[in-house]
This record gives sequence, structure tokens and C-alpha cells, in this order.
Amino acid sequence: MQIDIQTLAPADQYRLISSTVVPRPIALVTSYSERTGHNAAPFSFFNVMGEAPPVLAIGLEDKRDSGELKDTTVNIKETGEFVVHMVDEAMAAAMNVCAIVFPPDVSEIEQAGLTLTPSAKVRPQRIAQAPVAFECRKIAMLEINPHRHITLGEVVCMHVRDGLFDADMRYIDPDKYHPIGRMFGRLYTQTRQHFEMEVPTYEAWLSGAGR
Ligand SMILES: Cc1cc2nc3c(=O)[nH]c(=O)nc-3n(C[C@H](O)[C@H](O)[C@H](O)COP(=O)(O)O)c2cc1C
Repeated sequence: MQIDIQTLAPADQYRLISSTVVPRPIALVTSYSERTGHNAAPFSFFNVMGEAPPVLAIGLEDKRDSGELKDTTVNIKETGEFVVHMVDEAMAAAMNVCAIVFPPDVSEIEQAGLTLTPSAKVRPQRIAQAPVAFECRKIAMLEINPHRHITLGEVVCMHVRDGLFDADMRYIDPDKYHPIGRMFGRLYTQTRQHFEMEVPTYEAWLSGAGR
């Protein structure tokens, strides 16, 4: 089946692409404004784009009802700083609470039972419960249409929950780290089932490896 995706209504393009590119990691982003204080919201149009410097990308859409910028977008535009937290199984329910549209005087961070703690290099504070937090400075905001700002952030500092970093391997231990992934809508997935696959060398391939 061939789908001429750009002829579909934007909502259907969204449904199609967001149910196809799965599972997506979830960035729970804290940002700060002098006027409104701290804000937290989850975003699954999110991934890592490179290292040296480490770069993260987030797809920030406008508020669907009013067409206004989301608070996260406003704050990052204003201050150029934010913190991205990875969401694991233990933080899933709290992440979901952060997506509720509360009245301006109600803090989603408090409602979710999350605790803020000062960041090392940026003004927005970070969430103490998160398995991993990336303090970021904005590199660029790319307006791919009037309602979608792709935001690139340079990671200036990283925090990892005790026990997750394997100093010998210099990585986060996949047996101890349990981030969740977003499928579509209200569907999520766990990341506990792993399988191994090594890329054979060309010589090994010629001798029959990997077939
Ligand atoms: C798991 C999950 C993933 C989400 N991903 C995105 C996303 O990639 N982009 C987006 O604009 N909104 C996304 N949302 C919706 C925002 O989190 C929601 O609009 C939030 O209220 C925005 O808050 P803010 O106005 O405080 O920034 C997602 C919501 C959930 C629950």
C-alpha cells in the first residue's frame, strides 16, 4: 500500500507517523520562567542526535485547542535553558500527571509528587526522582510549520541515579535502567526484553556468519 502522506489532514499525518515510529523515548522537560516559575511536560517526539557536543532534539507542537505556544516552548524561547529527564517505569504515572492541563496557579510538579532540586549549570531545576537528567542549553529552534518547533539542545551536564552507571563499561547498565517507550495515544511499552545481534565483518559474512 502506498500512502501519499502529505495529502492527508495534519491530524491523520500525525496519527500515521506517530503510530509508526515507535517506541519513542519520553523526555520529561522542566523549564523556568520568571513570570510563572517551573514547568514540567512530557514529549515523545524526542531523541539524541549526536555527541561532542551531545545534542538532543524535541518536537514541540502548539496547544491544539488555542494554537498558542506550549509553556515549554515559551520558556525555552525566553531563557534558552531546559532539563530533559528520561522516564522510567517508576516515573511513568508522574510523567502522565505532568501532561494534564492544570490552571496556571496549580503546579503539575507538585501534583505529580515530584521534587525539584537545583541544576548544576542551568537555571531550570531538575527532578530528583528521574533516573537520568540532561541539563540543556538551546542550540536552535526550527519552525518547520507555524505550529511545530523542533528544538535542539546541547547537553551541558548529566545526572544519573546511583547504581545505573557502569564505570567499567562507561555506559548506563541496560539491566538496571528501565525507561518506558511511547507507542500511540495511551499505549506504552517496557524495555526489559533485550536481544543481541552483532554486525559481522565482511570476511565473517563471506564465510557464512549471520546467515
Ligand atoms: C507521553 C506523552 C508524550 C507527548 N509528546 C508530545 C510531543 O512530542 N510534542 C508535544 O508538543 N506534546 C506532547 N505531549 C503533550 C504535552 O505533554 C502536553 O501538551 C503538555 O500539557 C504541554 O505542557 P506545557 O504547555 O506546560 O509545555 C505528550 C504527552 C504525553 C503524555
